[in-house]
Amino acid sequence: MKRIAVLTSGGDAPGMNAAVRAVVEQGAHHGIEVYGVYYGYKGLVEGDFRKLESKDTQHALKLGGTMLYSARFPEFAQADIQKQAFDQLKKADIDALVVIGGDGSFQGALALTKLGFPAIGIPGTIDNDIPGTEYTIGFDTAVSSALEAIDRISDTAASHNRTFVIEVMGRHAGDIAVWAGVAAGADAIVIPENAYEMEDIVHRVRQGRERGKDYSLIVLAEGVSNVDDFVEKYQALAAEQEVRGVSLSHIQRGGMPTSRDRVYATLMGARAVDCLREGKAGIYLGIQGEQLAEFDIIDTLSKAKHKLRQDLFILNRDLTQR
Ligand code: F6P
Repeated sequence: MKRIAVLTSGGDAPGMNAAVRAVVEQGAHHGIEVYGVYYGYKGLVEGDFRKLESKDTQHALKLGGTMLYSARFPEFAQADIQKQAFDQLKKADIDALVVIGGDGSFQGALALTKLGFPAIGIPGTIDNDIPGTEYTIGFDTAVSSALEAIDRISDTAASHNRTFVIEVMGRHAGDIAVWAGVAAGADAIVIPENAYEMEDIVHRVRQGRERGKDYSLIVLAEGVSNVDDFVEKYQALAAEQEVRGVSLSHIQRGGMPTSRDRVYATLMGARAVDCLREGKAGIYLGIQGEQLAEFDIIDTLSKAKHKLRQDLFILNRDLTQR
């Protein structure tokens, strides 16, 4: 193997650059040239490839976002578009591809592997919603950023004895809400995986106030509702409370990656190169029990479901329920 390419696809996630850097350095370690594909699958189809060296990735390692840029490119589901990408890779004399992104991005890696071009996935999304792996690059930073914002909100909430509903990202998954909510000591966490009753949340918050709490925090996952609709329904049942809603939105997606995101991204980037050298393709990497793991794209994505840490959700519910 002489030359591999790496791309980032879908929503950017802090730590993606650390993974790119590890691919570049592990490639160099084995005498393999590494090319960056700019703008994800769109750049793959257009042949937007540039050779990456240590100097290109050294500084980026610690930065949020993706130095390779990203694009959502649903057209890549089409066979003729996939063939164009295949031809571009062959024309550039590239032997294999590393795709850093979410499960949609892995389908592209699978399609190329089926065409006879070896490709491997690395989970990069703040949502932590990929089956098999317990962790995706960017999740840890997103939770830390959400928590920092919630902590700030709690200062002003306490000063006015208010109830705040804070909407966090996660697409259809409640992981960011659960982790940030537990860490912030939220009075309630509302996630798409679990049904909820508005009366129960109001009751829980009232009980907290009766126990002497100065303020109340409800962490709401975006997959349940937008914050304005939720606040309206909540306020209708809790007229005595002064309620405010905040959506943390893309604040959660930027910023310097945490050490955990950088370390796991580095582990996975290097391992992806090793897997390709061993002739593996059509798989993605992940973390299970703090160790690197490999998952078959077809088997895992179609058969397994992402598992949220329900134990943390239940813990939070028990701690705030009497
Ligand atoms: O997948 C990452 C994510 O940030 C989700 O949490 C969110 O639903 C979505 O991307 C937002 O996408 P966009 O930045 O395209 O609006």
